[in-house]
Amino acid sequence: MAGSPLRLLFSAQQIQKRISEMGAQIDRDYPAGALYMIGILKGACFFMADLARAIPREVYIDFIGISSYGRGKTTSGAVKLTKDLDMAVEGCDVLLVEDIVDSGVTLNYLVNILEQRKPRSIRIAALLDKPERRIRPVEVAYVGFEIPDEFVVGYGLDYAERYRNLPDISVLEGPQVA
Ligand code: IMP
Ligand code: MG
Repeated sequence: MAGSPLRLLFSAQQIQKRISEMGAQIDRDYPAGALYMIGILKGACFFMADLARAIPREVYIDFIGISSYGRGKTTSGAVKLTKDLDMAVEGCDVLLVEDIVDSGVTLNYLVNILEQRKPRSIRIAALLDKPERRIRPVEVAYVGFEIPDEFVVGYGLDYAERYRNLPDISVLEGPQVA
């Protein structure tokens, strides 16, 4: 479409291929036993659904809600829990599932909170990573794709709550995101 603000970055097919690889890698890395996957609302819900189905072992699923103050494209630095887990994670192998790691503020905060609940292990799986933008340290065990500092939408990622349902991931360009 002429004048579309979206430039394709990863097709639905590329995303699925990478998620299959990630699932296989995760299954190889963990000792036998159940995996407790925690998706970060709302952006991670599509990735969570596909990654969980790519891990051939007993998997439990839960979600956690976070709101970061500040609108538009950047996190302000202040984070608040808006929905807590349903499950207890003490003694469990926890895999935190996130759509994209940007400043690292969200994941740095969540890892600190979850560590207090004494899981056996915590690792992070993120579909996308923008390492250039990091202001807080975060160790991401599984990364789908590293991307440059551009604003992306689709496959769960939004701009002002739009575009989450697009099957591909695209760069959002134009004056509305300047
Ligand atoms: P962080 O706390 O700065 O790492 O922010 C992570 C959150 O910011 C992600 O979970 C997304 O919700 C949002 N975010 C960061 N970069 C993008 C982007 O390029 N597109 C859409 N959302 C983004
Ligand atoms: Mg998010």
